Amino acid sequence: MATKIAVVGSTNWDISLKLPRIPRPKETVAGGVSQFSLGGKGANQAVAAAKAGAEVLFVSALGDDGVAQQVRAQLGQLGMSLEGLITIPQTNTGTALIFVDEQGENCIGVADGANAGLTSDHISSVAGLMTNTSHTLIQLEIPMPTVVAAAQAAKAAGSQVILNPAPAAAVDSALLAYSDIVTPNQVEMEQIIGFKINDANDMQKAAAVLLKKGPQVVIVTLGGDGVFVASQTETFTAPGFHVPVMDTTGAGDVFNGSLAVALSEGAALRDAVQFGCAAAALSVGRAGAMSSVPNRAEIQALLAAGT
Ligand code: RIB
Ligand code: NA
Repeated sequence: MATKIAVVGSTNWDISLKLPRIPRPKETVAGGVSQFSLGGKGANQAVAAAKAGAEVLFVSALGDDGVAQQVRAQLGQLGMSLEGLITIPQTNTGTALIFVDEQGENCIGVADGANAGLTSDHISSVAGLMTNTSHTLIQLEIPMPTVVAAAQAAKAAGSQVILNPAPAAAVDSALLAYSDIVTPNQVEMEQIIGFKINDANDMQKAAAVLLKKGPQVVIVTLGGDGVFVASQTETFTAPGFHVPVMDTTGAGDVFNGSLAVALSEGAALRDAVQFGCAAAALSVGRAGAMSSVPNRAEIQALLAAGT
């Protein structure tokens, strides 16, 4: 039977242009290829978790526009419950404008839209639905008080909190205290601990600082260099999978969604991290964020094939 996880976070409409290079101010770069897709860190992670095999409760705020209708239809098709979605009247669904260059690197601007209207009140109204989830995955594309309320509600419901502190922001200590697992990239990690990480030694120090603030596990995603993991009992680096890079947008989201599924199924930390790395590698080989999310069979096939 599928395990159940909650994802609390943003939904965006992604307008993505793959360009020869990312434009500088006052510059126009032609020759792009466009893609329009459902996105946002919350929705990407929810879809990644659903495709990796979990039953997903997705808690998010949508506008009252046509995009919201498409979002509901797409999530419904994936078999996801729509019970956690609210509509904010007279508001656009969140929007992201994304430039991707030839190397697959991106540059993103976001208009929060309805995401700014996801409140602690809404979290209270769906808290009852969280009770039979094993894990709750939360990011920082919704108001910080809502993030804290979600972490607190998840804890109270007996759900393990996975905090993906993206995009980079200062994170208050109450939130870290509610978090069981924190999954920053290096920039986000530096933002949280307040110093620059220059080498492996700094990374160890940074993880030790973060582990003292509440979480039992810190997982730092390092792009092509894999993942650094530190817990109260072990420290290791998972090398990641080597794939041709098409578009890294949403790779972190895919990692988090699939990691959560493996953990909810009781996988050991190392194995769960490998599962997440395999899923993320598959996604960077494809265009777009949500459109690049692999399914469980694809993840298992890459794991079986090895790096
Ligand atoms: O993490 C990728 C996501 O960030 C995109 O889907 C975009 O919506 C931005 O929020
Ligand atoms: Na991708």
